[in-house]
Amino acid sequence: MISLGIEGTAWSLSIGVVDEEDVILLESDPYVPKEGGIHPREAALHHSEKIGNLLNRVFSKINPEEIDVISFSQGPGMGPCLRIVATAARVLALRLKKPLVGVNHCLAHVEVGRWKTGAEDPIALYVSGGNSQIIAKRGSRYRVFGETLDIGLGNALDKLARYMGLKHPGGPKIEELARKGKEYYELPYVVKGMDFSFSGMVTSAQKLFDTGRRMEDIAFSFQETAFAMLAEVSERAMAYLDKDELLLVGGVGANSRLQEMLRVMCEDRNASFYAPPKHLMGDNGAMIAHLGLLMYRSGYRTSIEESTVKPNFRIEDVEVSW
Ligand code: ATP
Ligand code: FE2
Repeated sequence: MISLGIEGTAWSLSIGVVDEEDVILLESDPYVPKEGGIHPREAALHHSEKIGNLLNRVFSKINPEEIDVISFSQGPGMGPCLRIVATAARVLALRLKKPLVGVNHCLAHVEVGRWKTGAEDPIALYVSGGNSQIIAKRGSRYRVFGETLDIGLGNALDKLARYMGLKHPGGPKIEELARKGKEYYELPYVVKGMDFSFSGMVTSAQKLFDTGRRMEDIAFSFQETAFAMLAEVSERAMAYLDKDELLLVGGVGANSRLQEMLRVMCEDRNASFYAPPKHLMGDNGAMIAHLGLLMYRSGYRTSIEESTVKPNFRIEDVEVSW
């Protein structure tokens, strides 16, 4: 069975095609802001201008008749972007006479991680631009056991990078700089139970920059502090929920230092650490196609009437029947 998935909740416009075994193809045309962060309307304009060509690229490699289900990210995300994706998905489903499945973007990050690593019942640490959450399955739903009290870690990294004059996305640039950091400056370490916060850290790091500290040392201090917070809450969640697997997903998960710190923490407690390949960490169409396929096989269908966008869609809203 073959599923085509469309992702476009924010910066990434991406179409993936998967079957039960593997990713068959993945074509993307990301929106890169000329300056500043992501502007929802600009991103949506980009998606609407590029989606036709992207679909042509996909259909030059696979016959549309071979596709069994059209999957799309229904939320959470930026309203104007979600509407472009949902419209494209509806048109495709009607045109090709194929069933439609709207999926939750956060759940797609988790499920593609499980699929590509073999993690069975993990604590998922989901860290991206807009979201930073500790997730685990309880009964027939994934639940959020801890999350950021203000901004996602990716947004925090992007904001700090922008302040230091670096272009979006900042996460990979901070990672590069941090490798050359030597001096550690203390930053606000805010953990409350299994929740945490990053905005105070951003303000303090910006002050370090204003007082002329080296960018490399600021990036290093920021990463060490933020990642230690995430390692602490992940460990607490594993102990509290009695799980021995940790799965890292979301765009920030591509960071090698974060992976290293979590791996060491897991080794210390005889737990397994899992992270999917980098091209499936950040937003991508293959994760949407994969979750759409799982849902379709377990009976989910989204009618045209039900296919309206859900900008505040929560992972707990989805009954997991696969
Ligand atoms: P979501 O809707 O799930 O919040 P998103 O739109 O933020 O997703 P993702 O691709 O999941 O998109 O994550 C993008 C974020 O990941 C950006 O903030 C980016 O700076 C960050 N990022 C990417 N690579 C790295 C890296 N190597 N180290 C740290 N952060 C990274
Ligand atoms: Fe994402």
